[in-house]
Amino acid sequence: MKKSIISLMGTLAMMLLASCGSPSTGSWVSYSGDRQVERRVDSVLQLMTLEEKIGQMTQFSANWSITGPVMSDDFKPYLEKGLIGSIFNATSVEGIRRMQQIAVDSTRLGIPILFGQDVIHGYKTIFPIPLAEACSWDLEMMRRTAEIAAIEAASDGINWTFAPMVDIGRDARWGRVMEGAGEDPYLGSRVAEARVAGFQGGVDGKALVEVHTLLATGKHLAAYGAAEAGRDYHTAELSEHTLRNVYLPPYEAAAKAGVGTFMASFNEINGVPATGDRWLMTDILRGEWGFRGFVVSDYTGVNELVPHGFAEDEQHAAELAVHAGIDMDMTGATFIKNLTQSVEEGKVPEQTIDNAARRILEMKFLLGLFDDPYRYLNEERARKNSMTPEFMETARKAVAASVVLLKNEDNLLPIPKETEATLALVGPLMNDSINLNGEWAGLGDRNKSVPILKGLTEKYKDSAVKLIYAEGSSIDETTPARIAEAVSAARRADIVVAAVGESYHWSGEAAVRTDIRLPEAQRQLLGALKETGKPIVLVNLSGRPLDLSREEEEMDAILQAWFPGTQGGHGIADVIAGDYNPSARLVMSFPRNVGQLPIYYNRKNTGRPVDLNDERVDYKSNYLDSSITPLYPFGYGLSYTTYVISDLALDKSSMKAVDDRITVTATVQNSGEREGEMVVQLYVRDLVGSVTRPVKELKGFQKIALKAGESRQVTFELRAEDLAFYGIDMKKKTEPGNFTLWVAQSSDDNGNEATFSIE
Ligand code: NOJ
Repeated sequence: MKKSIISLMGTLAMMLLASCGSPSTGSWVSYSGDRQVERRVDSVLQLMTLEEKIGQMTQFSANWSITGPVMSDDFKPYLEKGLIGSIFNATSVEGIRRMQQIAVDSTRLGIPILFGQDVIHGYKTIFPIPLAEACSWDLEMMRRTAEIAAIEAASDGINWTFAPMVDIGRDARWGRVMEGAGEDPYLGSRVAEARVAGFQGGVDGKALVEVHTLLATGKHLAAYGAAEAGRDYHTAELSEHTLRNVYLPPYEAAAKAGVGTFMASFNEINGVPATGDRWLMTDILRGEWGFRGFVVSDYTGVNELVPHGFAEDEQHAAELAVHAGIDMDMTGATFIKNLTQSVEEGKVPEQTIDNAARRILEMKFLLGLFDDPYRYLNEERARKNSMTPEFMETARKAVAASVVLLKNEDNLLPIPKETEATLALVGPLMNDSINLNGEWAGLGDRNKSVPILKGLTEKYKDSAVKLIYAEGSSIDETTPARIAEAVSAARRADIVVAAVGESYHWSGEAAVRTDIRLPEAQRQLLGALKETGKPIVLVNLSGRPLDLSREEEEMDAILQAWFPGTQGGHGIADVIAGDYNPSARLVMSFPRNVGQLPIYYNRKNTGRPVDLNDERVDYKSNYLDSSITPLYPFGYGLSYTTYVISDLALDKSSMKAVDDRITVTATVQNSGEREGEMVVQLYVRDLVGSVTRPVKELKGFQKIALKAGESRQVTFELRAEDLAFYGIDMKKKTEPGNFTLWVAQSSDDNGNEATFSIE
């Protein structure tokens, strides 16, 4: 009898909700407080008890992929009482259906659950890690791979992804640099927009209720990448200027692109843990950027306010977090266990709870969950839309477009099929599929990823190129006998191709390294191969820039292939054989040694800048034992052809500080013998500021395709507002003064320089 009353009430509530009309058809991008949605949310809120509202602010993990302490609470009793807003890491489609059924049919109000997951660089079809994809500088490609991830996941019951990660990464020790777009705020912002558009849809005004929409998350707000010494979860101490001018722009870009949610970062910033930082989560995020979605904590981030030394106990932590602007507690159960009491004691206004619950319910409406709680569960769609030939093709192209050619002595690469040569294929990652997907690889089947050996074998089948294989070492172990086997293969070959690098576990969350060289076993292997005198092509797979100083000296060609995903072997083979001409450019500086970290191109000049042509001068800002320059700079990458930039011209030499622009043109020529794509980069230096300005800042880029010998004029519109920054008064504006500008092939290319001024 009791059960039927509950389910009747549930049905009534659902009818009431459904009668509010069909879901919004506005787009994410244009969503800014849809009155119709607000009215519907009001009608639900009126029915809810305080505890039910706090329930909406509660998220539990289905404990598939644990990224923190396992919570002892079994969440089922909460689910049955309608006290859960979201569940994440539920990977069984049947499980999701069952949980949704409980929420919808057996709870008092029948409010559907939001199902989240870390769909970071693919769901079943795994694309290159985000850092790798960013090296393509191909925004449309990144939009599309995010969209494909959404299409695949949104059939399996998932409707919310914890991506894109938009943290600036300047320190390669930090394992999470693999998840972001590198060190640059401008590029990071453009990539953030592309990925938000891809996950959520709406780039062309599409409705956000389309079934391949995933609610996206801008994370981790903020400055998680500024963790001291690259140690995960560590303290970030940085000036408000650096925070605003360097770290915040990609989050702001995600907010402006209509991202539905944000995730708070684990770190403290200048003494205040982000999860308890009202200035960040409310004043900046909502006040300055106009964000209207909801904010989720990171995994037990609210509980962690206690060990941070910011809250006395978990009740205090919950109060601080909700006051700061955290709307949903991930996994920690601090809200559901404490906030009812906090409201009753007058420590938290009920209005604060209403606001948070409202924001969460709004997203559920916008996702169409009140219309059909099962709309993201569709076996038929899942079958049709998973790992399709088109997705495989996109993934293969994404691999090739992400591989950065770092060195190519004597044009050792490419090795076309017609080459009469034997290749010795060696190294721990040559015949490996398990590592290829990298970390955060969703449901990607690691056994299905294409090893490089397989890619090369298929590529050179029935061709003049012959292959022999000997592993030589595992990732961090080898023996003299294994090395001897690889050396013997090298001796019988004309060229060695060695696939080396990191284990995929060595990057991602809680995966920090203080030594970022190749492991000793692999260095021994490469040393022995070098002694054979055979030319060596190094293919490096890693989730971060490594210190490749020794390899730069000893290897003949180097390809940085990151963790390439499902189609890894094929995409890399396309590059090696020259069927794809490398076009990727680094988005993070590669250091010469770990002691240089953090290292980034947009550094400050200092009062004692060192002359880069003669660094060994006393009392300058230099090192005694190293250059200050990176081994490979931001924006750098070679190609199988060459390019020349010339004829840099500005339509005027000065502009006003507001509402004005300068048109910059330059000619780019493909001066080599094969077709290729070139990333033309526009950098600016603001010579004097009310706070000091970086020696260079990226302000624009274009990726253009050029046939052999072809020339093309590129045009950039540099607006005065593109030069705005937070100055001494912490207001964002463009300051008058003189500027230098470069149109360049990389951040250290000063060949085409011009000057202009702001009146
Ligand atoms: C912790 C990570 O920091 C965050 O990025 C991730 O989304 C959550 N765990 C959920 O897995």
